[in-house]
Amino acid sequence: MASDGDKIQNMGAAGLYGMPAAKVIDLPADAVQFSPLIPGASALESPGEATLASMTMLAPPGALERRYAMALALRAVKPGGAFTALAPNDRGGTRLRKELQAFGCTVDETARRHHRIVTCARPTELTGLDEALANGAQRKVKDLDLWSQAGVFSWDRIDPGTAMLIDHLPSLSGRGADFGCGIGILARAVLASARVKQFALIDIDQRAIQAAQRNIEDPRVRFLWADVRDPKIELTDLDFVVMNAPFHDGGEEDRNLPQRFVERAAQALHNGGVCWLTANRHLPYEAVMKSLFKRVELKTQASGYKIYEAHK
Ligand SMILES: C[S@@+](CC[C@H](N)C(=O)[O-])C[C@H]1O[C@@H](n2cnc3c(N)ncnc32)[C@H](O)[C@@H]1O
Repeated sequence: MASDGDKIQNMGAAGLYGMPAAKVIDLPADAVQFSPLIPGASALESPGEATLASMTMLAPPGALERRYAMALALRAVKPGGAFTALAPNDRGGTRLRKELQAFGCTVDETARRHHRIVTCARPTELTGLDEALANGAQRKVKDLDLWSQAGVFSWDRIDPGTAMLIDHLPSLSGRGADFGCGIGILARAVLASARVKQFALIDIDQRAIQAAQRNIEDPRVRFLWADVRDPKIELTDLDFVVMNAPFHDGGEEDRNLPQRFVERAAQALHNGGVCWLTANRHLPYEAVMKSLFKRVELKTQASGYKIYEAHK
């Protein structure tokens, strides 16, 4: 069977970005996946110019992120190849037509199940790509003095829940993990303790992992572009887990997701290990924590956030 690399090399590959619902659009068969939110996908920056036969893209919600991804995707498709972008109306869908026209595309637009679907043939001449690519690329954010990228969680500011957890975090020790590490802000605070010996930074967003790799150069750290819920990721016998757990999956609120993170932390810790967690006040973590940990302590709550320390 041809690998994704072979398919791209052979100039025959159909590209897919994200997971559009099949009831909204027919998905191309045997497509190469390019979303940074799907571990193992090919990088959208990697195919050469005009190498893909087509691209179907569930366009991301943020304007900078979306224009960056569409610019890369258009560049990768051969002139004349089919380009399709779709998005929910309230997450960028209504802007797609104009944004693609600004890239020099002549588009058709349809609506289905609260989505806009915009199609065009990739024009030979593309316009405005450089600006979109520059605005959406990984960059050093001045206020943070850290590398980040539009589209990554809280990409240009410290999340208040993260800041609150950092304020309450004790000096940790031994082997640990950061579940959903983002660009590494919480992890940098953890690594201030010389007693931390090994630290796994895990995130489902490849862009976050790439930024974290630039923000943290520390031999104690290993970076994993992975889904924390994936049982194939080996995480056992840890002394500590820290997390500002996500509660969105594919743009939708998913109350189950942080609970799965808590379950995974309980599995990964040895008896006596500790989990430090920042939680949005409206989310129900407590019952699942109490069912999996011996001692659960609410350390503080303010401004919509709660900080917990849970001992296994
Ligand atoms: C609330 S943010 C916290 C980021 C960072 N730790 C901080 O405090 O700034 C949650 C992070 O979890 C990541 N994430 C979401 N779902 C995930 C999953 N299933 N597995 C791993 N990471 C995930 C997101 O990409 C995001 O970076």
